[in-house]
Amino acid sequence: MAGERIVKGALIGCGFFAENQMRAWQELEGVSIVALCDRDPRRLAHFQALFGIEDTFTDAETMFAALTGSGNRGLDFVDIATTTQAHAALVPLAARHGVDIICQKPFAGSLAMARRLIVQCAENGVSLSIHENFRWQRAVRQTIEVLRAGRIGRPFFGRISYRSGFDVYKAQPYLARVERFIIEDLGIHVLDIARALFGEVERLSCETARVNPGINGEDVATLMLHHDDGVTAVVDCSYATRLADDPFPQSLIEIDGDNGSLRLRQDFELEIHGAEGGCDRRDVRPEPPAWSEAPWWPIQESVLAFQADWLKARRHGRAVETHGEDNFNTLALVEAAYRAAAAHQSVVPARWSR
Ligand SMILES: NC(=O)c1ccc[n+]([C@@H]2O[C@H](COP(=O)([O-])OP(=O)(O)OC[C@H]3O[C@@H](n4cnc5c(N)ncnc54)[C@H](O)[C@@H]3O)[C@@H](O)[C@H]2O)c1
Repeated sequence: MAGERIVKGALIGCGFFAENQMRAWQELEGVSIVALCDRDPRRLAHFQALFGIEDTFTDAETMFAALTGSGNRGLDFVDIATTTQAHAALVPLAARHGVDIICQKPFAGSLAMARRLIVQCAENGVSLSIHENFRWQRAVRQTIEVLRAGRIGRPFFGRISYRSGFDVYKAQPYLARVERFIIEDLGIHVLDIARALFGEVERLSCETARVNPGINGEDVATLMLHHDDGVTAVVDCSYATRLADDPFPQSLIEIDGDNGSLRLRQDFELEIHGAEGGCDRRDVRPEPPAWSEAPWWPIQESVLAFQADWLKARRHGRAVETHGEDNFNTLALVEAAYRAAAAHQSVVPARWSR
């Protein structure tokens, strides 16, 4: 990166997941987080000490006023790592200040709001990138690439399965209180993998259950997707599955094509079965950064990979795969899944159009 200007960013939301985002920024060359913002002064002080960043703000508006505009210190982008409710105010605020935006998933609480945020970013000439990292896990990425390279021909069936009993409520207690839980929080990632593998979805059906009596939302969801190009895919998610060898936080994938099959196994082995009966086995275990800790390796690796791609995309003037318009269609699958589950009927998801 010799000679390239350092890209300057600010982080809003110094919570549980943002720690991964900060560690990834600090590992990447050519980018620097110059300011932190959190409305909770204790979280702010914790991040300030952890990452050695001087400039801190408890109010995003004050931060943008201090860092943008003529004569100020300059800011190129903001990484919004708060939960969804705050995005409706923070995304337009950042857009008005002319900075590119990275926003955590789900980037809006409704499709109407998602549309509004996309349009406001476009009107202000700033990019909107959704921090969707699951498709950047090494095992998932390699599965996507093998499929796209045509190794098993035309796919006709897929299953993406995420089943675990991991105590997610410990680090994210708000997940026990939300009315919409597993589809909105975790299924959104798995549905995004389905789109990365098989493209857009024509219709879907969904059944949900709440197994854990101590939470408000659903902790089990089973979806059937019919994709535009004819693939039928099952997306199944559970945080109520007790297994001695809990695969958390892995997504396991099965794909059948007209010229072979793929199996992404729990031991991070990707099997490529050919039509003639042979099987290639690839080791696709994560190559996690030094700061990564078990069992978070695939996730933390994918945070770094997403952010590295965002930086590369910015340098080359291209959008990331999961830009706002693209991710609108993932969010639309989440909305459609809740509608389908309520009606016990298949539903046609909305799709982005101008
Ligand atoms: N990609 C993944 O694998 C993954 C994993 C976990 C969480 N997430 C997402 O990350 C986001 C954050 O989740 P979390 O568990 O870290 O939440 P959290 O509650 O631990 O952290 C959110 C932080 O944002 C701050 N905040 C909220 N509104 C603010 C505002 N208006 N201005 C400044 N600060 C504000 C809060 O004080 C808090 O410190 C969620 O959208 C979640 O879905 C993604």
